[in-house]
Amino acid sequence: MKETAVVACLLAELSLAAFALASQGAAHCPALCRCEIRPWFSPSSIYTEAATVDCNDLGLSVLPERLPSETEVLLLQTNNIVNVEKTLDYLDNITEIDLSQNNISSVGDVYLGSLPQLLSLHMEENWIQELSDSCLASFPNLQEFYVNHNLIFSITPGAFQGLNRLLRLHLNSNRLTSVNSEWFQHLPSLEILMLGENPIIELSDMNFKPLGNLRSLVLAKMNLTEMPDNAFVGLESLESISFFDNLLNRVPQVALTRVQNLKFLDLNKNPIERIQRGDFTDMMHLKELGINSMPELVSIDSFALNNLPELTKIEATNNPRLSYIHPRAFHKLPRLETLMLNSNALSAIHRGTVESLPNLREVSLHSNPIRCDCVIRWVNMNRTAVRFMEPDSLYCVEPPEYQGQRVRQVHFREMTEICLPLISPGSLPERVEVRKGRSVSLHCRAFGEPEPQITWVTPSGDRVLPGSVSDKYYMHPEGSFDLYDATEQEAGSYTCIAHNLVGADIKSVLVAVDGYVTQPSNQPLHVYITSVQSHSVRVSWESAGGLVSQLNWSVLADGSSLSAPFAARLPADVKEYRIKQLKPSTRYQVCVGVTAAQPGYSRDCVNVTTKVALIQRDKSENWDSLVMATCAVFFIVVAVACSVIYTSLYSQVFYRKLIADPAETLLIPSAHSFSSPSSDFLESGASGIKVRATVIDLPDDSM
Ligand SMILES: *[C@@H]1O[C@H](CO)[C@@H](O)[C@H](O)[C@H]1NC(C)=O
Ligand SMILES: *[C@@H]1O[C@H](CO)[C@@H](O)[C@H](O)[C@H]1NC(C)=O
Ligand SMILES: *[C@@H]1O[C@H](CO)[C@@H](O)[C@H](O)[C@H]1NC(C)=O
Ligand SMILES: *[C@@H]1O[C@H](CO)[C@@H](O)[C@H](O)[C@H]1NC(C)=O
Ligand SMILES: *[C@@H]1O[C@H](CO)[C@@H](O)[C@H](O)[C@H]1NC(C)=O
Ligand SMILES: *[C@@H]1O[C@H](CO)[C@@H](O)[C@H](O)[C@H]1NC(C)=O
Repeated sequence: MKETAVVACLLAELSLAAFALASQGAAHCPALCRCEIRPWFSPSSIYTEAATVDCNDLGLSVLPERLPSETEVLLLQTNNIVNVEKTLDYLDNITEIDLSQNNISSVGDVYLGSLPQLLSLHMEENWIQELSDSCLASFPNLQEFYVNHNLIFSITPGAFQGLNRLLRLHLNSNRLTSVNSEWFQHLPSLEILMLGENPIIELSDMNFKPLGNLRSLVLAKMNLTEMPDNAFVGLESLESISFFDNLLNRVPQVALTRVQNLKFLDLNKNPIERIQRGDFTDMMHLKELGINSMPELVSIDSFALNNLPELTKIEATNNPRLSYIHPRAFHKLPRLETLMLNSNALSAIHRGTVESLPNLREVSLHSNPIRCDCVIRWVNMNRTAVRFMEPDSLYCVEPPEYQGQRVRQVHFREMTEICLPLISPGSLPERVEVRKGRSVSLHCRAFGEPEPQITWVTPSGDRVLPGSVSDKYYMHPEGSFDLYDATEQEAGSYTCIAHNLVGADIKSVLVAVDGYVTQPSNQPLHVYITSVQSHSVRVSWESAGGLVSQLNWSVLADGSSLSAPFAARLPADVKEYRIKQLKPSTRYQVCVGVTAAQPGYSRDCVNVTTKVALIQRDKSENWDSLVMATCAVFFIVVAVACSVIYTSLYSQVFYRKLIADPAETLLIPSAHSFSSPSSDFLESGASGIKVRATVIDLPDDSM
C-alpha cells in the first residue's frame, strides 16, 4: 500500500513532495486516492501549495472513512455521492472541498460539520433544487461557492446568511425565475456573481442594490429582453458586466448610466439592430467594449460612441449584417488603440472613422466583403500610421476586376475617387414579417463617395425623406425607416434609394403583415407610347405592386435581330419615361419589365418608329458640316470637362446617356447596358441635384 502510493507519486513525476505523513503512514491516504502537495490559488488569487487529497472519479458513494488530518484540499469530483453523514471538522486546515459532479440533491444532505477554515466549496453539476435559510452558515469564512449547473428554482431570502466573507457566487445554469435582492443582503463582500442561464425573463429595479462591492456581474444566456432603468443601482464598484447571449434589442443605455465605474462591457450576441447616437456616452471609465456576434446588427450610426475617455478597445466582429459604420460614429475617444472589425459585412470603412481616433494603432478589417474603390481608397495611400491586422486576409470582393485580389495590391490610383452608392446587401433583407399592430424597422445604409443620401418609397408611391414623420412612419436621418402599428394597408414593398451625384442604387424589402402582402395586380402590364418625336419617344405604363421597373429599348433591324438593348432601372414610383437621342425614322422595340413584390415578373413591349427628321434633303450637306462642327466643339468641351472633373473615373465604368423626364427619375447604370452616343453625358436631377458625368470607352456604334 505504502509502496503503491509512493510509486504512483514518483511515476506521476509531479516533483511535488508527498504528504509528510502519507509517506510515514500511508494508511491515512484513502484507498485509490492520491495525496500530494499541489499548487493552489486562494479565492483572491494568491498562489500557495496545499496538501491535496485527490479522490476524483472513483465511483465513490460515500466519503472515505478517514482523511489525513493535514488535508487542505479535498477533491471528490465525479463520484456518486448522494449525502455526507460524517463531519469533516477534524480537518483543522481544510480550505477547499470539491463535490462537483455527484448525485447530491440538497445542500442539507451534505453534513460536513462546522468548518471555519473552509474558503471554497464546489457543488456544481449536482441535482440541487433549493437553497434554504442558513444552509451554509457553518462555513462562516467561505469565500467561493460554486453551485452552478444544478436545478435550483428556489433560494430563500436567508439562504446566504452568515456568508459575510463570500467573494464569489456561481449560480449560473439553474432554474431561477427571478432575482431577489434580499439574498444579497447577507453578501456584503461579494465581488463576482454569475447568474447566467437561468430562465429569468426580467430583472427588476434595485435587484442588486446591496452589492456595493460587486466587481463582476454575468447575466449571460438569460433571454433578457430589456433592462429596467434602475436595475443596477447600488453597484458602485462594478467594473465588468456581461449580457452575452440575451435578447436585448437595444443597448440598455439608461441602466448603464448607473454603473459609473464600469470598465468592461460585453453585449455580444444580442439582437440589437443598430448602435445609435447616445448608446455609449459619457462612460468615464469604460476601457473595452464588445459588440460581437450580433445577428441583427446592421449599422453603427453617427455619435454612437461619444465621449469615452478611457476606451482603448472596441471589438465589433462576426456580425453577419454589420454593413455600415458612419464616418462620425466614434467621437471623443482619445485613448482608443484597437478597433476590431473583422468578419462583418462591411464593404468599406471611411477614412473619417479612422481619422477621428487620434490614438488608434491597429484596425482589423479582414474577412469583410471589401469593395476596392473610392471609399476604401485611403487605405492604400500610405498616409495613415494605423496598422491593418492580417493584411493578407484582406481581399477585394468588388468590383469584379479586382475580385480575389488583396486590397493592398490594388494601387490607390486605380481606384476611382468618386463612386456610385451601393446599398449593402446585408442591411436589407428581401422580406420582413411583422405582426399586426407591431412596429418594424427597415435599415438601409450605403457606402459611396460622395456620401449618399437615402430616401424611401412606400408601397403607395410616397417618397419619404430623412427626418420625415407621419402617424405611421418615421425616417431616421441615418437611413432607417420605422413603421408603426402595422396593418394590412402598410403591407407591401418599400424601396430604399441611395443616391449621390454619380448615380443611385435601389433595394426593396417586402413587408408582410401577419403574412399578408399586397398582391401584384393581376392585370397584365401595359406599355403605351404617349408621344413620338424624331429623336425621342415618351413611354408610359401601368402596373401596381412592382418593386423596380426595367426599361429596355433597341433598334428593330430588318430581320428580327435586335441590336444590343439600352436599359434603365427605375424606382417603382416612376411610371413614365422619355427616351431621348434616338435615331429618326427608325423602328425601335421598347420593353418594360416590372419585378413584382410577389413572385412574378411581368413584361410588355411595344414597337415604335421615330418620326422623320425635319431637316430637308437639299440642305443636308450644310447641315452635315454644321453637325460635324458642332460635334467637334462638343467633343472638345466634353473632353475637357472629362479630364478636369472626372479624371479619376475608372475607365471601365459605363454611364449611359439618359435624360430623365420627369426630372425626378433616377438613373441606374446597369452592368449590361451599352450607351449609344460617344459624346455622352448623363444628366439627372435627383432631389434638386444636377449631375453631369462623362462616359469613357463606349462602343462606337451610333451617331
Ligand atoms: C494547520 O496549519 C498550521 C499552520 O500552517 C500548522 O501549524 C498546523 O500544523 C496544521 N495542522 C495540521 C493538523 O496539519
Ligand atoms: C442519482 O440519484 C437518483 C435519485 O436521486 C438516482 O435515480 C440515480 O440513479 C442516481 N445516479 C447515479 C449515477 O447513481
Ligand atoms: C431561452 O429561450 C430558448 C428558446 O425559447 C430556450 O430554449 C432556452 O431554454 C431559454 N433559456 C433560458 C435560460 O430560459
Ligand atoms: C505603401 O507602402 C508599401 C510598403 O511600405 C509599398 O509596398 C506600397 O507600394 C506603398 N503604396 C503606395 C501607394 O505608395
Ligand atoms: C433588358 O435587356 C436585358 C439584357 O439584354 C435583359 O436581360 C432583360 O431581360 C431585358 N429586360 C426587359 C424588360 O426586356
Ligand atoms: C415588334 O416587332 C417584332 C419584330 O418584327 C415582332 O416580333 C413583335 O411581335 C412586334 N411587337 C409588337 C408589340 O407589335
